[in-house]
Amino acid sequence: MKLIYVLRGQINYWFYRAIRPLIFLWSGEEAHNKLKKVGLLLASNFLGRSILRVLFYYQHKSLNTTVDGVKYDNPIGLSAGFDKDGELTDAYPLMGFGFAELGSFTGDVCPGNPGVGRRLFRLVKSKSILVWYGLNNQGAQAIAKRLKDKKFKIPIGISAAKTNNFADFDLQDSIDDYLKTVNAFTDIGHYYTINISCPNTQDGEPFVDKKNLNTLLDALDQVKQETKPVYVKMAADLEEGEINTIVDTCLKHKIDGLVLTNLTKPSMNNEYLKEELTFDKGALSGLPVQRISTKVVRHVYQRTRGKITIIGVGGVFSADDAYEKITSGANLIELITGMIFEGPQVIGEINRGLVDLLKKDGFSSIEQAVGSRNPLL
Ligand SMILES: Cc1cc2nc3c(=O)[nH]c(=O)nc-3n(C[C@H](O)[C@H](O)[C@H](O)COP(=O)(O)O)c2cc1C
Repeated sequence: MKLIYVLRGQINYWFYRAIRPLIFLWSGEEAHNKLKKVGLLLASNFLGRSILRVLFYYQHKSLNTTVDGVKYDNPIGLSAGFDKDGELTDAYPLMGFGFAELGSFTGDVCPGNPGVGRRLFRLVKSKSILVWYGLNNQGAQAIAKRLKDKKFKIPIGISAAKTNNFADFDLQDSIDDYLKTVNAFTDIGHYYTINISCPNTQDGEPFVDKKNLNTLLDALDQVKQETKPVYVKMAADLEEGEINTIVDTCLKHKIDGLVLTNLTKPSMNNEYLKEELTFDKGALSGLPVQRISTKVVRHVYQRTRGKITIIGVGGVFSADDAYEKITSGANLIELITGMIFEGPQVIGEINRGLVDLLKKDGFSSIEQAVGSRNPLL
């Protein structure tokens, strides 16, 4: 069986390498919209679903993990931002994902930043995407209405952000906006992520401020459901003091975990080729954020004494990348850019590689590996 998986991985890899230059002829946003349609078509019928399963699905019992009461077949999930309207949930389990975080959804309909079709830029040599979307989505109410009777085959995270339609920041309006999404999805999905870290919004990142965050989390305390974990997604480019403030505020409010991290701003980062940056707005995914997010995972794992959940995200392209974040303290992993650059088979390949890495270190489960190379001081 192992040989078949190796062969399948190689065929998929070389096939994607061959067609990638053609996909990359489209702009990032155009390619995303076209491939989404292919995914929707495949997931809509028996033949398509069988094709997805045969090409990509992989499972192994050592990858099963339970986090905050939610059972995951494997720790590799889709990160927020790929499925902004929650449309492809039938495809993800067949592609081998252990979970998927949808959104970010906002309280009101949000067209995102101007320049539709020109809001994503690939930096191929830097293995990164410059993102200038600005939270475009159909709005929490419409999306919740569509998903309300859906039976999900894997855990689903609901990422809530604040509608990015105005430059002026109003604390109460912003909190009400988050609550609109949280309340719309009361009976949908398995966990919430409160995204306070979108780098592309008109009013900046006002919830890095301790007082604002406290007020937001106070309001969330009132609506929090016992059975549904709540995580907070943090920005990549924060000072250590800012990270500590957010972590301590989250601990005070008994937030279940942190998603580490969002995109990195080019002005705060030297880990990309400057000549590839052709647009003066937006923030970077992929390799430029890999080291930063792992460093934040390591720091937060120490600060929280490994007591709350960490979802590690940023620049995961391989099993080694995922394992580094897990052994640094992450319970679960998310990715987008790895899938775009390496192809959809990368999810199964990462999971297959994780099985080997666990075995090599003498672990029989993901839980045993979490934080194993970041001993608590
Ligand atoms: C096209 C795109 C759109 C994104 N939109 C969101 C979003 O709406 N909400 C969010 O929390 N993060 C968003 N992100 C950030 C990702 O969730 C993730 O934190 C970041 O890309 C690092 O992971 P990666 O290197 O695997 O892509 C987006 C990323 C990309 C590439």
